[in-house]
Amino acid sequence: MLTGHALGLDALDLARREHEPVPLEAVGRVADLLQRRMSGESVARLIGEREFYGLSFGLNSATLEPRPDTELLVDLAIKALPSGGRLLDLGTGTGCVPIAILANRTDASGLATDLSPEALEMAQANAARNGVGERLDFALGDWFAAVEAPPALIPPHKGEGDDEHGTLSHAHPSPRWGGTEGGVGSQPRGPNDCGFDLITSNPPYITSAVIETLAPEVKDFDPRLALDGGPDGLAPYRIIAAEAGRFLKPGGQVLVEIGYDQGASVAALFGARGFSNIAVHRDLGGLDRVVVAHHLSGS
Ligand SMILES: C[S@@+](CC[C@H](N)C(=O)[O-])C[C@H]1O[C@@H](n2cnc3c(N)ncnc32)[C@H](O)[C@@H]1O
Repeated sequence: MLTGHALGLDALDLARREHEPVPLEAVGRVADLLQRRMSGESVARLIGEREFYGLSFGLNSATLEPRPDTELLVDLAIKALPSGGRLLDLGTGTGCVPIAILANRTDASGLATDLSPEALEMAQANAARNGVGERLDFALGDWFAAVEAPPALIPPHKGEGDDEHGTLSHAHPSPRWGGTEGGVGSQPRGPNDCGFDLITSNPPYITSAVIETLAPEVKDFDPRLALDGGPDGLAPYRIIAAEAGRFLKPGGQVLVEIGYDQGASVAALFGARGFSNIAVHRDLGGLDRVVVAHHLSGS
């Protein structure tokens, strides 16, 4: 993959030309990529993209690499979202969660947030790349503060038929006011538009002290902001459990990814905040991976 990337060849062309020597001018590029891989940088980071839920996502230094573990969150959300539903994804990174959901639920729309402007910019590019840019809005900020803040934070990536040149571009003549441009996902959004049917999040959930013990691919290359869940790894869940009710319709649901040993703690946090029908779902490896909690009261 690295050689193909350095030579600009896809897998088929690489196989077809496997007996040809690497051109001398490309040898340095291949060697550089191999050196970086040996230093722990992942293949996905080196080639700048990663597959998730059958879709391709661009990466940058501010985004976590999407992991297959997170596909369970997407599976559950696709089933839970009501017809024509609206989704809020907190800490979206590459945007892999809401983009995969909306790609499979063409009736739905959503809002994706992150504290990192660089991550949000990549998520917006990925939404256009995967054909859901018209149904996904973006907001920058600290958890729910992003939802309440005045919108219009970054210019949109063009695409999906609104770009006569067929390219993605940051150069848009007018700012995007949080999705008021028309289309399925474009209801006015602001402090009072809190009627989400579903809130999803794969927040940072690694205990601060454990981060240094992780593989170089993670501790040296995944952004710290995407990993660090505070002293006990539960800090973002406390905020989400405390605030989510204000942003959900009655009957709405929160779905959060968790670490394998956090099921009981995270379920208890949602229980203490009045959520009902709380369930811990296991991934294909048999590990606790997603907590689902229902907001029944409307409070
Ligand atoms: C574990 S990563 C998950 C990224 C993506 N949802 C995924 O599943 O690949 C957590 C994300 O939360 C974002 N984040 C961290 N602290 C945040 C905060 N206070 N408010 C909003 N987003 C935050 C990080 O920038 C990162 O993109």
